[in-house]
Amino acid sequence: MYCVKELVESRGCLQSVPSNYVFPENHDDCIISEEEPIPTIDYSLLTSGSLEQRSKVIHKLGNACREWGFFTVINHEVPKTLRDEMIKATEKFFDLSEEDKREYAGKKLFDPIRWGTSFNVKVDKTFFWRDYLKVHVHPQFNAPKNPPGFSEVQEEYCKKNRELASELLKGISASLGLEESYLQKTLNVGSNSHQLLVINLYPPCPQPEVVMGLPPHSDHGLLTVLMQNGPGGLQVQHNGKWVPVNLPPDSFVVNVGDQMEIFSNGMYKSVVHRAVVNGKATRISIGTGNGPPLDTVVSPAPELLDRENRHAGYRGITYKQYMELQQSNRLDGKSCLTHVRI
Ligand code: OGA
Ligand code: NI
Repeated sequence: MYCVKELVESRGCLQSVPSNYVFPENHDDCIISEEEPIPTIDYSLLTSGSLEQRSKVIHKLGNACREWGFFTVINHEVPKTLRDEMIKATEKFFDLSEEDKREYAGKKLFDPIRWGTSFNVKVDKTFFWRDYLKVHVHPQFNAPKNPPGFSEVQEEYCKKNRELASELLKGISASLGLEESYLQKTLNVGSNSHQLLVINLYPPCPQPEVVMGLPPHSDHGLLTVLMQNGPGGLQVQHNGKWVPVNLPPDSFVVNVGDQMEIFSNGMYKSVVHRAVVNGKATRISIGTGNGPPLDTVVSPAPELLDRENRHAGYRGITYKQYMELQQSNRLDGKSCLTHVRI
């Protein structure tokens, strides 16, 4: 089984894509909306704004989670040099020989490091135009040995992402009318939290309109924090349309994952998104899935249910079981959540 990068490079000038990559539904049929940009959150106001600025940005954060499930984050505290180094090291990793990378190939969900292609080649009917490196980086840190220096950059980058996610989780907790620390306390988010680094590589494709980089799906964690090397490709489902995410340079795009939907009893919905590819340049996206500890049973927040006088709309499930559920099925929109909906 070739990964996409080797497929593209081994054929010299690849004119057309192999048939097992041709996506049955033509994604050009979908309605693309360019009108509405996703909301922007100024992180500096959350951490060092005046009381008034902070309450305004928390309100905005709440609206973004309720109406979009997606927002961009500007003025964050992750240095540009660190972001650039992370992208450079990623390029070097994917440039290693296939033999070097194969050391991490074909492993299981909870193996510390997994390199692969598509989503899960065991269950995918059509292959996706994407290679990946997935690393469980917290609470135990792991990293590939090569290229030299990757491990250090990766550790620092993931730590900074956790700090960002933690501040956002406080704001989101407050935006639900809960105490700032309620979400993190209830789900035991902290030193044992799980964090998964997911690096996606989308090589240029001779027929970008017939393949899919990543099919429509929602993310399993609480919050995903993602950056990209340049070219766009991420699209978000909003009011029945696909909205392309135009990410300003130096910003992150953050989205609500399935655990947040469960915790908020559906007030904040995880939103379906996908990645399309282009014909010109390699696109790299680097995401961290920030969740609770794997053994935390995630269920709707008791205080929210009491306050709203509602029944729980989801049954409790450990984060670990939830991840296993998602990995064992084909990626199909938000279908995984139907297993826990009451
Ligand atoms: C993901 C994802 C989008 C992108 O890794 O879960 O949705 O733009 N990635 O690569
Ligand atoms: Ni995703």
